[in-house]
Amino acid sequence: MSDQSAFDTDVWTLTRFVMETGRKAKGSTGELTQLINSTLTSIKAISNAVRKAGLAHLQGMAGSVNVTGDDQKKLDVLSNDLVINMLQSSYGTCCMVSEENTELIVTPKDKRGKYVVCFDPLDGSSNIDCLASIGTIFAIYKRITEGEPTEKDALQPGKNIVCAGYALYGSATLVALSTGAGVNFFMLDPALGEFILTDRNVKIKPKGKIYSLNEGYAKYFHPSINEYLKHKKYPEDGGAPYGARYVGSMVSDVHRTICYGGIFLYPANEKSPKGKLRLLYECNPIAFLIEQSGGIATTGTQRVLDVQPEGLHCRVPFVVGSPDDVNDYLSFVKKHS
Ligand code: AHM
Ligand code: MG
Repeated sequence: MSDQSAFDTDVWTLTRFVMETGRKAKGSTGELTQLINSTLTSIKAISNAVRKAGLAHLQGMAGSVNVTGDDQKKLDVLSNDLVINMLQSSYGTCCMVSEENTELIVTPKDKRGKYVVCFDPLDGSSNIDCLASIGTIFAIYKRITEGEPTEKDALQPGKNIVCAGYALYGSATLVALSTGAGVNFFMLDPALGEFILTDRNVKIKPKGKIYSLNEGYAKYFHPSINEYLKHKKYPEDGGAPYGARYVGSMVSDVHRTICYGGIFLYPANEKSPKGKLRLLYECNPIAFLIEQSGGIATTGTQRVLDVQPEGLHCRVPFVVGSPDDVNDYLSFVKKHS
């Protein structure tokens, strides 16, 4: 038999990868493995719903508004229910925080485990109806209190994350995952219904050629940001200007940044003094993955993973990417401070 066959008979599925990693971890009970696998099942179900949304009448508004004031889409609500149900039935969670729920979601007593999950079930919802890429983001922590789970369990800094990931529903469905030993990419094979390892130990380039932010808010930006952007467009050294890309779905913009290098920014502005992105389920998981790939994630004044959360839905200014690019940005912040 030729070894050129299109069929790999020793495939690294994400389920296998998670099981192997779990078995190697000291004192592992399998609870985290079970929890991650349940998260992946909900991601497969969301991917399926996203792909069928137009046909299954899942596009459009649900008629409600979430805690941070966004109008909820039908897919937002469906994805949220899928994640909550799958995670609670994994017996691995004690509580959860979702972008779509104002309060802490406490797992029923008989289904409790020792982990806390913070997630955004469908990020980039404004892109649903025009079929641009959207994503799911999650971070898993170990609980820190005993007895009834409280907000304290969820209000941990990102540096305590034990596992984080995102799913990108793009031209293909991809999962980026890290348990603190680098970042790996897995692509969904629709025929198998399994995520297959495609990129091991992904590293971000030290420097890229792309900047990414909603430049439409330039009027409201701090002068340091506008000066930085000018420097990207009209480099003083006479070099080539940076390219600009902005999907408006953080998962897409961040995934491109990890793959191609460069910088993604959602800085504070006059209208949103802390920016828009939420610390627990948007910034922290992404910051964890960016750091695990060798990049930097900062608020402009502090490492994102060191920020002590003030509330379940608190926001922070967010700048991530290739180390040279983020350091270049920070030099402008410093100059103006
Ligand atoms: P959402 O969770 O309501 O979808 O909002 C988060 C999204 C991010 O994916 C994206 O980076 C940002 O909002 C875009 O915001 P803006 O339209 O202000 O550029
Ligand atoms: Mg979001």
